[in-house]
Amino acid sequence: MHFISPQLENYVLQHSEDEPELLAQLSKETHQKVLRPRMLSGHFQGRFLSILSKIISPNHILEIGTYTGYSTLCLAEGLRAKGTLDTIDINEELLDLQRKYFDLSPYSKQITQHLGSAIDIIPTLNQKFDLVFIDADKPNYCNYFELIVPRMNAGGIILSDNVLWSGKVLEPIEPNDKSTVIIDNYNKLLKNDPRVETVLLPIRDGITVTRVL
Ligand SMILES: C[S@@+](CC[C@H](N)C(=O)[O-])C[C@H]1O[C@@H](n2cnc3c(N)ncnc32)[C@H](O)[C@@H]1O
Repeated sequence: MHFISPQLENYVLQHSEDEPELLAQLSKETHQKVLRPRMLSGHFQGRFLSILSKIISPNHILEIGTYTGYSTLCLAEGLRAKGTLDTIDINEELLDLQRKYFDLSPYSKQITQHLGSAIDIIPTLNQKFDLVFIDADKPNYCNYFELIVPRMNAGGIILSDNVLWSGKVLEPIEPNDKSTVIIDNYNKLLKNDPRVETVLLPIRDGITVTRVL
């Protein structure tokens, strides 16, 4: 779904940073070889993740949902020199492609891949985070949030993707459409939780920027 016209989207892209060559290659290879390439953040959202990470200048980043590593590399652009990024994905088949591109980037040694279910892996990370990107497994968004808030440094930022769910949050919800209910509940949780402040941005499929107080 386009929240703005394709012409405006084009204008927005033309007046934002260009996509780095390595990420253009990764996007191309993902589209050629991997199922569901639409999951990849892409040029515009990627530049948003990159500039936000540079503004925050995080020591530790956590990403839930690596896929082929596009957003991982965008987020890594803001890492401090000794910073680290932990990224989790449940799909073993993606590990080699992720590592290929991580190794081609300047952030190879800073990125740790975790294979498995995020709900099991997050509690094993003995780290406090400055920036978290939640982009996997919608049914567990609320659970991820509860696990992550105590693991955030004060002022840390949690980004949550797909929170407009192609605009379905506005429509009458079909009886068997659990995903929309889950996303709508998640958005209400972020809005009402006194531990955080949140702004929902209509970028791509919707991203919330949530600051932990
Ligand atoms: C939308 S894609 C991530 C896209 C990536 N962040 C990007 O922007 O390029 C979601 C990923 O989450 C992974 N995933 C799904 N369920 C998961 C779970 N329970 N734990 C960890 N990863 C999961 C999928 O294998 C998939 O690669």
